[in-house]
Amino acid sequence: MELIKAKDYREMCKLAAEKMIKLVMEKPNAVLGLATGSTPLGTYGFLKQDYEQNGTSYQQVTTFNLDEYVGLDGSHPQSYRYFMNKNLFSGIDIQLDNTYVPSGQVENMEEECLNYESLLRTKGPIDLQLLGIGRNGHIGFNEPGTSFQTNTHVVELTESTREANKRFFDSIEEVPTHAITMGISSIMESNEILLLVSGESKAPIVRDLFEKEQTEEIPATVLKSHPNVTVIADEEALSLLTEKV
Ligand code: GLP
Repeated sequence: MELIKAKDYREMCKLAAEKMIKLVMEKPNAVLGLATGSTPLGTYGFLKQDYEQNGTSYQQVTTFNLDEYVGLDGSHPQSYRYFMNKNLFSGIDIQLDNTYVPSGQVENMEEECLNYESLLRTKGPIDLQLLGIGRNGHIGFNEPGTSFQTNTHVVELTESTREANKRFFDSIEEVPTHAITMGISSIMESNEILLLVSGESKAPIVRDLFEKEQTEEIPATVLKSHPNVTVIADEEALSLLTEKV
């Protein structure tokens, strides 16, 4: 894993956006893997700004999102489909038909998992997968203990994840209990992975990621065996590393 140290959140976002823009310019029909959460928000802001100022085009780009809450329709303000439309897709010239977010509201969730996985196979592989990390090391919604062999699947969210995400809802009861997520194996099939980490609250998991052995108890440690991973982390997130970088 290559580590790039950023001064702060803003610099992390700027570096990530520059990498994504470079890819789209070199490969106009790139397949991007996208993430939600507060971490990638600033990066999406820079992509929108670049589109307005420089006109980088996403007309031929395809995107795949990592995950979605089960039970929330795409029009629900806390759904990840809504998040993506609002925070990125509406601000660039991407064709919405080329943006894939797993659906959390179909009758047959098992079938949705298989469909998403087969879409990934026919339209993919993902050229660059953007990732955030949960405080417990989850990537997408692959919680600790998830097998590294998993494809897209439905998961029960841990209490700590529901607790961490309740800030977006009126109360903890409203936070969905399940989600659909690309599996760890699906994520690992991406050609390149870009993990963004910012802030003090992520410092303990960043230390674990770099200093502990690979284990399914810390899903993000799977990235140690991917050949092309870049981690962009800010100073606060790196503050607990034993060996200062
Ligand atoms: C959520 C998402 C993850 C995200 C993580 C971190 O649960 N499913 O994809 O990486 O939380 O979120 P944040 O960036 O807000 O810390």
